[in-house]
Amino acid sequence: MVKNIYGHLLVTAIVTDERICFLVIKNRYGGLGLDRKIKVNIDACLSKMVTAETVYNKYGAVIIWENTEMDGMAISRLKDFGVEDLLIYESILPVMKRQSEEKPSVQVEAGEKNVSFAEVYEKDTDEFKTILHDLSVGKADSLNKTVQIVNSVYSRKNDHSEIVDCITRIRKVDEYTYYHCINVSLLSMMIGKWMKLAPDDIYMLVQAGLLHDIGKSMISPEIINKPGKLSIEELAAMKNHPEYGYHMIKNLKGIDARVSDAVFHHHEREDGSGYPNGLQGSQISQFAKIIAIADTYDAMTANRSYKLKDSPFRVFDLMQNGCFGYLDPVILETFLSNISHYYIGYKVKLRDNRIAEVIYINKQQYGKPVLNTVDTYINISKAKNLSIEEVL
Ligand SMILES: [Fe+2]
Ligand SMILES: [Fe+2]
Repeated sequence: MVKNIYGHLLVTAIVTDERICFLVIKNRYGGLGLDRKIKVNIDACLSKMVTAETVYNKYGAVIIWENTEMDGMAISRLKDFGVEDLLIYESILPVMKRQSEEKPSVQVEAGEKNVSFAEVYEKDTDEFKTILHDLSVGKADSLNKTVQIVNSVYSRKNDHSEIVDCITRIRKVDEYTYYHCINVSLLSMMIGKWMKLAPDDIYMLVQAGLLHDIGKSMISPEIINKPGKLSIEELAAMKNHPEYGYHMIKNLKGIDARVSDAVFHHHEREDGSGYPNGLQGSQISQFAKIIAIADTYDAMTANRSYKLKDSPFRVFDLMQNGCFGYLDPVILETFLSNISHYYIGYKVKLRDNRIAEVIYINKQQYGKPVLNTVDTYINISKAKNLSIEEVL
């Protein structure tokens, strides 16, 4: 046997049919020598190290796949889940040691944090668009690529202001489906945080939110992109998407049963009026209830080819007063009471074209805040014939 200075096997002798052969070992980069896996403490991990194992959480969901090049986000996620050490491929270590001398890991993470949320948001949406396209042409294995987007969304779990800002301002009519899935993922994650769920649960909510409409990739684009109302037959076809989505992901490695269940039941309603199974109240899982609220909010605030978006305040009003019997009231209250406060300080345009600033949110009526104009305060809940038309 011949080994290099890192202990990689370069050449070995094997005996077959009483003949001696020499086998030259090549590693995954085409170089000489087998990759050796070494265990590294999470605090010593650096960007660009490559994982040599798939790491799972306690529910069997994947935190990071083998052969993933790590970055600051992946490392902080592993720490969040309490991972203390993991296997990495040693063959790129010499390079990493040089990089670490030039650039401490703290700075690497800080640099990645400096990438604006809007840039990451647009990039994730673009990647999800590619995945949905691949799925619609039968490339089922592209579903595995969603892990990167889930990790990217999850890494921004504390950036609520930036998330609300992007969801409010970036609205592209023709790209609705892709932005919608990213938005539902982000909104579900925030609801999970506000409900003080465990990190594992919040991670699964990110997955479920991203994948909730994945079954639409199996439905004809003419129906998905049809401007205007769907016919009865088209609506019936569209209503198959939760079931299609469920079957697409239920056997995927790293997908918890609670995630696939949420995908299956995100259109169920508290009073049994939803689909596909007409489940009621406690028959609907907590995850499905959370996705339903995120899904409803994003759909109502979206610009579509056949309808103009409603302002977040109009949607707060509609959800607080018009969704009784449809959405879980406790989760809905958690959602509205938290998200509405992120709009304090926003400029809004009133029906009479005046511009005002949101200064106070009224808990009894989240959609009717107190505003400050140049010359007066306005309590929208008391003002007659005055409403918020647009958030600027
Ligand atoms: Fe849906
Ligand atoms: Fe949806």
